[in-house]
Formats: sequence, structure tokens, C-alpha cells
Amino acid sequence: MQIPFHKTHTTTDEITAITQVIKLGWLTSGPEVVKFENKFKEYITSAYAINLNSATAALHLALKAIGLKKGDEVILPTNTFVATAEVITYFDAIPVLCDIEDNTHNIDISKIEKLITNKTKAIMPVHFAGQPCDMDEIYTIAKKHDLKIIEDAAHALPSSYKNIEIGALKNTDMTCFSFYATKTLSTGEGGMVTTNNSDYAKNIKINRLHGINKDVWDRYALQGSWQYDVTDNGCKYNSTDINAALGLVQLKKQKKLRDKRVNIAQKYNIAFKDNPNICIPFIKNDRTTSWHLYVIKVKNRDKIINELKKHGVGCSVHFIPIHKFSYYKKEYGYKDKNYPIANSVYERSISLPIYPDMSDKEINYIIEKVLMVVE
Ligand SMILES: Cc1ncc(COP(=O)(O)O)c(C=O)c1O
Repeated sequence: MQIPFHKTHTTTDEITAITQVIKLGWLTSGPEVVKFENKFKEYITSAYAINLNSATAALHLALKAIGLKKGDEVILPTNTFVATAEVITYFDAIPVLCDIEDNTHNIDISKIEKLITNKTKAIMPVHFAGQPCDMDEIYTIAKKHDLKIIEDAAHALPSSYKNIEIGALKNTDMTCFSFYATKTLSTGEGGMVTTNNSDYAKNIKINRLHGINKDVWDRYALQGSWQYDVTDNGCKYNSTDINAALGLVQLKKQKKLRDKRVNIAQKYNIAFKDNPNICIPFIKNDRTTSWHLYVIKVKNRDKIINELKKHGVGCSVHFIPIHKFSYYKKEYGYKDKNYPIANSVYERSISLPIYPDMSDKEINYIIEKVLMVVE
């Protein structure tokens, strides 16, 4: 049997939605983007949602909205995708890496304060695999030191913290979602910023389209006008009606798709929990995870991935910590010894396939092979 690490969930509904947009004859940002933003903010229960062409763009513009400057510092976990660190470097600001917890793989809140200096401007918690970070504690630290909070929620749709949807937490400045091909809602490429702050929302809307003070659709719609001003040095980060049409269809199915991932996670948990050589994911009881990823920890990680590959099971590793990358080591002088937990988690982690369209036969096959090769 061949089981890829990920397969995107798409049906004829997505195809119909895209076809309708193409037939309407307006392919870039337009009415579908507006509809997607409105539905997304309703779903999350945030005041604003701004659709962009990636989460990287979302994180970048969130940092621009808080006025990040050259030499400023931003604290983030080392266990994240490179995009979270990269966007900080766009400002000639400094990504300050924090170690993580061994159980959740999220930022270790007990290590944040030691990293704060008079240059620190923000904390960027990453909700690893979909499990929310300790947001109350992060807010207490941020408030004490007058820092902004920008959540990297690329994995966290839908996830909740103390019964509040990620993206709607009132003490957060902005939350950034990803709609990349492997994410729980996929538009191929795409992202969204949610916020309850009208100034941030306005700033991001303007900067997603070259700093122009009107959206494309405002200019081209029949009631629109050709005139515009450029009020900031923005970027070209707008999304398209084709992507938004996909997003609208997938948003409606979020609960159903999450239930399917929960079912897979439960099957894995039951099968692996008593095996002394497998450490299963740990979810804190005051929050829910999207189950974007299902990460086990084992000894001999590389050997097990190779053996699973031979049996046709695609796996991945999340993440190679930022402090291990040659560019980041060279530029910022990160030392391996400062991230002992992230190193140990990284050396043992394997992400197993978890996506809605996996059949029971495939799930059982993966379980059988994992139990066969783990030692
Ligand atoms: C934690 C995290 N942050 C940010 C991103 C960037 O998302 P995008 O590809 O939409 O820019 C990713 C993508 O994999 C991610 O995993």
C-alpha cells in the first residue's frame, strides 16, 4: 500500500466554485475575497479578517502594522517553520529564539522573560500542530513588558483556548492563518489575518496592495473610481477570487474535516499509548487542537522513517529547528546548547499522515507498520 504524507481534501464542490469564478470573468481580488473574509471573521468571531496570499505575507504585514524597526527583537520558538523567523529579518530586526516544552512542543513560557531586553517589541507564539500555546501566561508577560502578541496560527484552524476560537483571543494583537496546500483549510496558497483592532486591519488592507488606499475591486467595480493614492510602501500580497472561492467551500466543511482528523488521532492514540517506545501527542485539557499534525516521538527516528517509507508510508518531521539552519546560525550566532529540549524533540519526532480522506484500511495499515518497525 502507498500512503502519501498528505493529500488535499477536494471534491466537486471546490471544482464547481472555481468554475463559477472563472465564468464570471474576474480572477483577482474581488467579491469572493470579500465574502471569504466576512465568512471567516464570522466563523472565528473576530472583528476583522483580511485575506492574503500566504501566512508568510500575513506575518510580515502584522509586523509592519506594529511598526517593527531595524534592530528590534521579536521572540519566537525555535520549533517552527522558517517563515516565522524570516519575516522578522525583512525589517533588519532580530529573531530571538526560545526553547520549547517537551510535551506540547510549544514555546516554553518559563524561558521567555530571560530573553526580553529593551529592544524586544513582540512575542510570536506558534500553535504547534494546532495545539494553542499558554496564551494567558504569554499575555501576562507581554503586558508586563509592553510587548505585542502576533500568533502564528498556521496550524490552528480550528483550535480553541479556554473555549475561545484561536483568532479571536481578546489579548492578542493579530493572528495569522495559512491556507497552504497541506493545511486544514487549503486554497493552494493563501493566508488570513484576524484582529479586533480596526487600525491594524486598515493598515494590513492597504499594505497588501502596494500601499494603495483602495482595494482593486473598489477601483474596478462599476461604482468604483480610477483615482487612488499610495499612502505606504506596501507589498503585492492580495489573494484572488479563485483562491477565495476554494476557501469558502472549505470553510463550510471545517467542523466535519476536523472530526475526521480527531477520529484518526484517537485511533492512533489507542493503538500507540501502551507502547513504551512511542510517545504520543500530549494535549492540555483547557484547549483543543485542529490535529493539523500527529507527531509521535521515538528512538532511532531516521531508521523508522526509512522503514516506514519502504512500507509505502509517507512521513515528515516538524520541524528542523530554526537554530540549526546555516543561514540563521551564521547571521544570528544561535548555539545548539541553548535549545536542549527543541534538540531532543527534533531528534525523536515523526509526523504521521493525518488527513480527512484517509480510509480505515489506510489508518490500520499505518498503525500496523508503525508498531512493526518501532523498537
Ligand atoms: C508554523 C508555520 N508558520 C508559517 C507558515 C507559512 O505559511 P505559508 O506557506 O502560508 O506562507 C507555515 C507553513 O508551513 C507554518 O507551518
